[in-house]
Amino acid sequence: MRHPSVVLLDLGLPPQPASPEEGLAILSELTALDRLTKIVVITGQGEKETALRAIGAGAYDFLVKPVDPEELKFLLKRCFHVVQLEREFRDLQQMIQGDAFEGMLGASPPMRTVFDSIRKVATTDVPILILGESGTGKEMVAKAIHQRGARKDGPFVAINCSAIPETLLESELFGHEKGAFTGAHMQRKGRIETASGGTLFLDEIGEIPLPLQVKLLRFLQEQCIERVGGRQEIPIDARVIAATNADLKKNMAGGTFREDLYYRLAVVQILMPPLRDREGDARVLAQAFLQRFAAQSNKSGLSFDREAMRALNNHSWPGNVRELENCVRRAVIMAEGKRVTVQDLELLATSSAANLATLKDAREAVEREMVQRTLRKHSGKIAPAAAELGISRPTLYELMEKLGIARE
Ligand SMILES: Nc1ncnc2c1ncn2[C@@H]1O[C@H](COP(=O)(O)OP(=O)(O)O)[C@@H](O)[C@H]1O
Ligand SMILES: [Mg+2]
Repeated sequence: MRHPSVVLLDLGLPPQPASPEEGLAILSELTALDRLTKIVVITGQGEKETALRAIGAGAYDFLVKPVDPEELKFLLKRCFHVVQLEREFRDLQQMIQGDAFEGMLGASPPMRTVFDSIRKVATTDVPILILGESGTGKEMVAKAIHQRGARKDGPFVAINCSAIPETLLESELFGHEKGAFTGAHMQRKGRIETASGGTLFLDEIGEIPLPLQVKLLRFLQEQCIERVGGRQEIPIDARVIAATNADLKKNMAGGTFREDLYYRLAVVQILMPPLRDREGDARVLAQAFLQRFAAQSNKSGLSFDREAMRALNNHSWPGNVRELENCVRRAVIMAEGKRVTVQDLELLATSSAANLATLKDAREAVEREMVQRTLRKHSGKIAPAAAELGISRPTLYELMEKLGIARE
């Protein structure tokens, strides 16, 4: 359901247009629906008492007929402004007051589902498979499950299977005995062994080569491992959580991922929604990152301007939360003054382009955007910026003068 930001309400409504009762009833319903909605009531001449009753019932302000258009415009503008401020404040408050789940932020329905799943599985021991695009927070989920489980005082050991060369992965996971291979001067415990008593997080599980998949499956079935070059069976008590952004079903069909391992790992699956499907979360996350990075760089009191907020909301975030985090981190460094702009974020002000009246305005907005961005990228140096923009240096100078962009 859509919650209107501002409502203009004539109190004299049918069935008794001469009485304010129906209007006042609607007023109460609207305020109950969303107490941030700003309701401006319109009353007839000499109905001061009714107007006061309306204010008492939660109306923000009132206007007396005949309504002066200028006054109306002014009042509406102020209403929208106040609503926006109050909503930002509410978002921040919600975030601070424990909508944060083991450090994970999000109030959208798909994230609530994720939090519910974490709550349910944390107290069990079954293996979990976390699926989702890069940057959606898979590792954070794994840590949250660990934190809320019986093994929280044990270690959380993460290994990124795609970051370690195939030849080293086996000994990294299972450890080795002294002399197991050239260069194995000492006995060494593997990550699986270090995770004993805690949680083992196998990131990018789709990248594990087939021979190792067999060994991993044995570990999952028997809760025992052998170090490379070793003969002794070592019992391991660790919870296993795996994650991937690969399509394991496709890998299975293509013969690069073992089906038996898949069914062992994927007893429970948690699907991380991409950020673009989490309505409103980009805003909440951006605010939180802004507070964090601003405090870290002694720039407290920074906030996004309206256009920046809109751009944050409209961007599709292919790199998900990680991209958003980096974008805000950079913007905090770039921002001058108290307001973070679309330019600081290096996002295109798409929605504002749609609001521009003429083609000329739109063209200039895009030109300004690109010139500023390219200049910033080359630290204000004209020659490389012109080259990247595909124009000559004199043309770039002309363009900057036309757009009123100062040379650094
Ligand atoms: N819901 C969230 N709230 C706050 N920060 C998040 C959230 N999801 C992800 N992050 C941050 O985004 C970055 C990427 O998260 P990560 O768990 O490494 O993603 P993935 O493993 O899916 O690539 C990390 O810096 C993490 O702290
Ligand atoms: Mg990751």
